[in-house]
Amino acid sequence: MAIHDAVVLVTGASSGIGFVTARTLAERGATVVGVARRAERLAELEATLQAVSPRSFTQVSDLAEPGAARAALEGVVARLGRLDVLVNNAAVPKHKLIWHTDQADAEVVMRVNFLAAVEATLAALPVMLRQGAGCIVNVSSMAARIVPPRESLYGASKAALDAFTEGLWSDLQGSGIHAGSVIVGPIDTEIWDKLEEPPAYRGRKHPPQVAADAILRVIEDRRHQVMAPRWSFSLRLARAVRALAPGLVRLGLRRMDPVPSAALQQARARAERGAKRNQADDA
Ligand SMILES: NC(=O)c1ccc[n+]([C@@H]2O[C@H](COP(=O)([O-])OP(=O)(O)OC[C@H]3O[C@@H](n4cnc5c(N)ncnc54)[C@H](OP(=O)(O)O)[C@@H]3O)[C@@H](O)[C@H]2O)c1
Repeated sequence: MAIHDAVVLVTGASSGIGFVTARTLAERGATVVGVARRAERLAELEATLQAVSPRSFTQVSDLAEPGAARAALEGVVARLGRLDVLVNNAAVPKHKLIWHTDQADAEVVMRVNFLAAVEATLAALPVMLRQGAGCIVNVSSMAARIVPPRESLYGASKAALDAFTEGLWSDLQGSGIHAGSVIVGPIDTEIWDKLEEPPAYRGRKHPPQVAADAILRVIEDRRHQVMAPRWSFSLRLARAVRALAPGLVRLGLRRMDPVPSAALQQARARAERGAKRNQADDA
């Protein structure tokens, strides 16, 4: 699909990969609509976009709210008359030991990282079907393949997104609509500053342009799955070891970030208190 003159919606465009993707697409002649929550960041993006693509704009939206993704998409179609590409990029991290997470964490992660993408996709499909063409890009993570310590919820949200994308590969046959995902490795964005607990990963982080270029490859070359970075020996090795010797990966991850004994003791104490409360309630 040609990027020039395409109308593209990018979620999570106020920073990091989304910001660079929106800017790159606008520089390539697309009309870009960037969605996120932080109005001041979006104002900066809007100025950047409109310098090269005057019809581009931004929209404040909290995708954690049910219905927000659909409303954002319908707003784009109402204003620009079409939608050629949807980039589901918005996400929140969740880097916490399972002992520290609760149901509310799970609800937010799944809503922003998975359900908002589903909602936007379901709203986009009839528009793209009427047009006879379209492209949906879901921004996933290596964390869906090799779930790092403290990332059960985040990894699960991205694994759900991957399964959804793979289902689209089958269901969109004959529709003219393409779906693809970008499997993102470590990229140097502010997502790392938002982690609740310190990450054990100390390796290289790649510039966000690497992920933006991968997103463009999905759109232009109709690729189903692209890694970002494209050629990373360590990511490819990790995937191969995961497939051939999953026990080795488990061992490596445990060594990389052992569960602190204090965290386990605190969790045990909470569990004991909970058991005593239940006994008192039953009595
Ligand atoms: N950086 C990495 O190492 C890495 C690795 C694997 C995968 N990824 C994936 O790459 C994508 C982009 O992440 P990034 O690294 O660029 O992180 P980022 O800079 O933190 O960007 C996340 C974007 O999502 C938006 N967002 C978060 N919650 C939202 C909500 N409730 N409603 C609307 N927008 C929301 C944020 O904007 P507001 O806060 O303004 O709403 C921001 O624009 C994500 O899907 C992430 O999972 C990144």
